[in-house]
Amino acid sequence: MMRISIYLAIVYILTINECIKIFHLSDCDIKYVIKKTQEVKLADCENRGLNFIPQNLPGDINVLDLSSNQLTAIYNNSFVNYKYLQELILGNNQIEYLSSGSFKGLYNLDTLDMSHNMLDLSKTYSAEIFVPIKNLTKLDIRSNMPQPIDFEKEFIYPDHVFGVLSELSFLGIDMMPVPQFGSGFSQMTNLHELHFQSCYLVSLSNTTFQAFSYFVQELSLINCRLKAVRTDVDVLLPFPNLRIIDFHGTFMHLRRALYLLHPYMYSNLTTINFGHVSDASIDSSELPFVTTLTPDMMKYLKTICVENLDLSNNGIVDYEPGSLLTFDRPECLQTISLNRNRFVIVTTKTISDFNSFCGKSVQLKSIDYSYNAVNYFIDNSVNSNLEKERFHGSFVTLPKSLEKLDMSNTILTTYPAIWFKVPLNNNLKYLDISYSRTNMILVFLEIRIETFISTGLYETAWSELIRFPEHHLKTVVWNEAYLNEGIEEKGNQLFGVLTSVESLDISRNNIWYFPNELLKPMPNLSNLNLGKNLLPSIPEQLTDHTKIKVLDMRNNLLTTVSSVIRNWADKMQARHGMSLSLDGNAFMCNCDNLDLIRWINTTKVNLDSRSYKCQLSNGTISDTLTVYNSFSRLFADCNIIIWIKDVLIPRVEAEWGLTMCIRDRDFLAGKSLLDTEAESIKNSRYIIFLITPEFKSSNDCLFELDRAKYEKVTRNLDKIIVITKDIRITDIPPEFAFICNYAYFVQWPSDQRDVDDTWRRLKMLITDGAVANRQITL
Ligand SMILES: *[C@@H]1O[C@H](CO)[C@@H](O)[C@H](O)[C@H]1NC(C)=O
Ligand SMILES: *[C@@H]1O[C@H](CO)[C@@H](O)[C@H](O)[C@H]1NC(C)=O
Ligand SMILES: *[C@@H]1O[C@H](CO)[C@@H](O)[C@H](O)[C@H]1NC(C)=O
Ligand SMILES: *[C@@H]1O[C@H](CO)[C@@H](O)[C@H](O)[C@H]1NC(C)=O
Ligand SMILES: *[C@@H]1O[C@H](CO)[C@@H](O)[C@H](O)[C@H]1NC(C)=O
Ligand SMILES: *[C@@H]1O[C@H](CO)[C@@H](O)[C@H](O)[C@H]1NC(C)=O
Ligand SMILES: *[C@@H]1O[C@H](CO)[C@@H](O)[C@H](O)[C@H]1NC(C)=O
Repeated sequence: MMRISIYLAIVYILTINECIKIFHLSDCDIKYVIKKTQEVKLADCENRGLNFIPQNLPGDINVLDLSSNQLTAIYNNSFVNYKYLQELILGNNQIEYLSSGSFKGLYNLDTLDMSHNMLDLSKTYSAEIFVPIKNLTKLDIRSNMPQPIDFEKEFIYPDHVFGVLSELSFLGIDMMPVPQFGSGFSQMTNLHELHFQSCYLVSLSNTTFQAFSYFVQELSLINCRLKAVRTDVDVLLPFPNLRIIDFHGTFMHLRRALYLLHPYMYSNLTTINFGHVSDASIDSSELPFVTTLTPDMMKYLKTICVENLDLSNNGIVDYEPGSLLTFDRPECLQTISLNRNRFVIVTTKTISDFNSFCGKSVQLKSIDYSYNAVNYFIDNSVNSNLEKERFHGSFVTLPKSLEKLDMSNTILTTYPAIWFKVPLNNNLKYLDISYSRTNMILVFLEIRIETFISTGLYETAWSELIRFPEHHLKTVVWNEAYLNEGIEEKGNQLFGVLTSVESLDISRNNIWYFPNELLKPMPNLSNLNLGKNLLPSIPEQLTDHTKIKVLDMRNNLLTTVSSVIRNWADKMQARHGMSLSLDGNAFMCNCDNLDLIRWINTTKVNLDSRSYKCQLSNGTISDTLTVYNSFSRLFADCNIIIWIKDVLIPRVEAEWGLTMCIRDRDFLAGKSLLDTEAESIKNSRYIIFLITPEFKSSNDCLFELDRAKYEKVTRNLDKIIVITKDIRITDIPPEFAFICNYAYFVQWPSDQRDVDDTWRRLKMLITDGAVANRQITL
């Protein structure tokens, strides 16, 4: 068998990028920004890799942001050049040392943020440290303390240090297990906000907060969850003026937390956040995790006029009549969060409480009742009035003021059934019933919904919307809603009911086919999520949409993005900005996708990545940035490959009747006929090297050259042919010099008129005039 092997001499241009070190520029950006209606000059030095404080910034800056650098210490006079500073941000460094004169000269400093460092309260702060900045109003030193070893030991805060800060209105500080706040803190007579974090608390006593100002309005003590926190009933007595209490994630048990409210009987509070204050990890026989709310537990809370109440995630399994929903002043409530418990919000037992609550809470805007999983016998799992005739049950009427109802992930069935009536003139704009399985049906007398989120069979909601053709839906999230079946059944009509929609999320629906006019009814569509479907391409009908700003195509089966879509996306970007997400597809990095790979690097469209995974022709997984950076190496031969594929192969195989073997190069479409290169050369009668101008020096080819020389000398390799294309024979690389004695050189003509002659010459060389049954390896 006779074969001809043709080798491409491929160029290697090493990218210089690898050699360029990334230097951290110590240069900061100087900008003007508006803070509290006032224009200030800001030096933005965030995340510049700094381990020192730059001294060359303009002297008149008002804000210096040094967050997220590598500062470890602040020394005397570090900021004397910046006497106009009002705000200094040192958060997220590794500062563990402060000289006593660190803040000298900062006469105007108002705000100091040193959160997320390693400043130990018991060691770092000298008595004079805050003296130069005693007009400070905001100090944040949260998330600094290491976790203590001893959880029983009292921790005495250096109150004399902080006592200097008599103007402070905001203090954020870490909470130690058994804290002692000395009288120094009582100097802060203007303190309004007190925030505790990095919370290692185990005990709050009647005296804990005694030193703090009577005027504190906002108290947060969140995520103290290493131990169960013991609380005395009068802990909050020193704070009669609190408006916001946030204890979320501090494990003290809901019952204890509710008792702490007694100082606020009959007063007005903005927010009480007792989310996740009970937890299975602090379950005890005295305070069991599983909780039934009783009138006794609610006795203080019920008297309070509270706007936002959060009792989520507390192991609530039931509530007695006269407890949860029996507020003296239900008209104060605006949002109530009962999510992540395990109770039925309304039963026959509590239906009158519920109805009277709904009737009186005339300002209630939001109910979060998501993630309440109670029981799992579901007969009819849909929120619709479609089949209500089949049931005998009672109605409760939701407040007209309600704007947002979240019933997602709620799994329960009631007997007899209870339905929620959404009244006429309602304000319900946002409804989330995704992943809920319940017979608590919503009965709409009127639909005002603008945002609708759902999973499960799309058809239920679809038929509901048809009943109210005048709806104003703007946002629809329809995940796992069997829309692939909907497309099959209803085709282009499927979204005919969604004309006003601006944001459509139909990800996770196994959609593999997209009818041509599916999106046509939605002229105002600006945000489309088609992620996690099975789409092989981005639907080209999108080019008829001129308002799209966000398109999510992640996790589909795209192998490319067509030029039509790319042009459209660029146009959208120019018009109003455009984000396109493409991650998780099956892009090919081959000669056919050259334009896409270039586009990914150069387009102004806001892509979710500039480096998508892609597959090379040889099957190796790479990414588009790597490929882009090795462009010249990987794609130099694209032109020549196209020439080989479209011109040479047809000529040699079809016309001359020879068989060619093409070396298994990365970007050659089609499989190599060769098992190994050496094998192929051994079996070839002829070998052709093709040299193009990009070729400089290719180690890649030396092996083949050697091998060819060897075969030529030892055996039956008839000829080595070197074709030079777009390059003069005299310019070919020196590596070829040593096969000169063995090789025939063919210069491919640039003049079309000479091409025929050259073909003839080549044919002569590889057929010796007599063509029969020969194979060529390329
Ligand atoms: C920093 O300045 C203080 C006076 O403000 C001085 O007592 C102290 O020794 C100085 N520390 C250093 C390291 O120079
Ligand atoms: C604090 O502010 C007052 C009045 O604004 C000013 O007189 C005083 O010098 C300031 N104190 C310091 C330490 O800068
Ligand atoms: C805290 O005060 C309450 C009543 O005000 C009292 O019953 C309780 O014993 C006090 N606890 C402590 C530790 O003083
Ligand atoms: C609470 O607010 C109401 C008005 O909403 C006001 O009339 C009442 O005096 C306030 N109560 C207290 C204790 O501040
Ligand atoms: C699209 O938006 C425009 C302007 O906001 C509005 O006038 C028009 O009615 C909307 N079209 C549909 C079909 O809702
Ligand atoms: C384009 O590629 C160059 C070279 O690798 C790279 O420096 C640049 O960041 C890339 N541009 C984008 C937008 O990814
Ligand atoms: C495929 O090609 C790439 C790029 O030339 C190379 O790095 C990789 O090793 C090749 N993989 C295989 C299996 O040949």
